[in-house]
Amino acid sequence: MDRRLSVAPMLDWTDRHCRYFLRGFAPHILLYTEMITASAILRGDAERLLEFDSAEHPVALQLGGCEPSYLEYAARMGAEFGYDEINLNCGCPSDKVKKGAFGACLMNEPSLVADCVAAMCEVVDVPVTVKMRIGTITGTARETAEPVQRFDEADYDSLCDFMVAIRAAGADCAIVHARKAVLGGLSPHENREIPPLRYDVVRRLKEDFPDMPMVLNGGLKRADQAIDVLDWVDGVMIGREAYHRPMVLAEIDAAMAAAAGESYQRPSVEAMLERMALYAEREMARGERLPAITRHLLGLVSHTHGAREYRRLLSEGAREREAGPELIRRAAELAA
Ligand SMILES: Cc1cc2nc3c(=O)[nH]c(=O)nc-3n(C[C@H](O)[C@H](O)[C@H](O)COP(=O)(O)O)c2cc1C
Repeated sequence: MDRRLSVAPMLDWTDRHCRYFLRGFAPHILLYTEMITASAILRGDAERLLEFDSAEHPVALQLGGCEPSYLEYAARMGAEFGYDEINLNCGCPSDKVKKGAFGACLMNEPSLVADCVAAMCEVVDVPVTVKMRIGTITGTARETAEPVQRFDEADYDSLCDFMVAIRAAGADCAIVHARKAVLGGLSPHENREIPPLRYDVVRRLKEDFPDMPMVLNGGLKRADQAIDVLDWVDGVMIGREAYHRPMVLAEIDAAMAAAAGESYQRPSVEAMLERMALYAEREMARGERLPAITRHLLGLVSHTHGAREYRRLLSEGAREREAGPELIRRAAELAA
């Protein structure tokens, strides 16, 4: 599994249309689904929740949950559907997730997480990985404002305990969002902005666990940044920047190829959009709505003369009743 470059799981963003689109940038980028809860797979419509296009490979299924038997079932289903990796979410700080007692609050329950990971590893042959934070802190925004800035030896010991537990349970990789999560006091959005990024902590962790594949996540926006950190970590995971400015994936890919002395062919906007027009034709024939696809394409074009009109066409224009895949081709002309 090539983990050097991946796109983060993002609820409501990295759905299957988004992943199909992002796959157009390079064949090796590892894509993650949005988090799907194990209980939804158990009780719901697994076919609808887990379906994906074969072009999305390599693609990882991210699960949310804290009940080993549910996760075991969901992981097995994921592997049967053909996912290339099963990932457990131990990093999401939202209240909804916390009430369900999973997500980032699991960072405080290393032995439960170990049971979950072991249960998943038991039933699948594909890698099982964990997405995590560097720690958690509980309290209101005011109470946590000062302590969230700190990362002391006790924090590091807890982080190591967590790492030891997941490694012993069989986790194949740790994907570390290099921030603490504030439980209770900050919204998910604030939790991605306010706790300071601590790449130094992840670097120390990689030094102390050299055999554990580790991917760095959080705040990465540029190719030079990615290349720098790839000196000491096994991979970079890009979240918001990959959604708002997907060309960053081509830039990182190009920089990685240059660093390896390989040749590189940058994908053209026109080719990316033609690929999506063909995809939209296929998906609309199955009953999909055009805006569900075009909403993911807005960030592809930003600095050209026709960028504003491009975005208007793909957002408002796509909602018009007679709009079809041709609209994406018209948008491509504006992008030129
Ligand atoms: C809209 C949105 C939804 C997210 N949903 C998830 C999720 O389902 N699972 C998860 O582990 N992280 C989720 N995250 C967090 C990202 O995976 C990532 O860890 C975070 O955005 C930091 O990376 P970045 O600075 O590159 O964006 C979400 C982030 C955003 C912006």
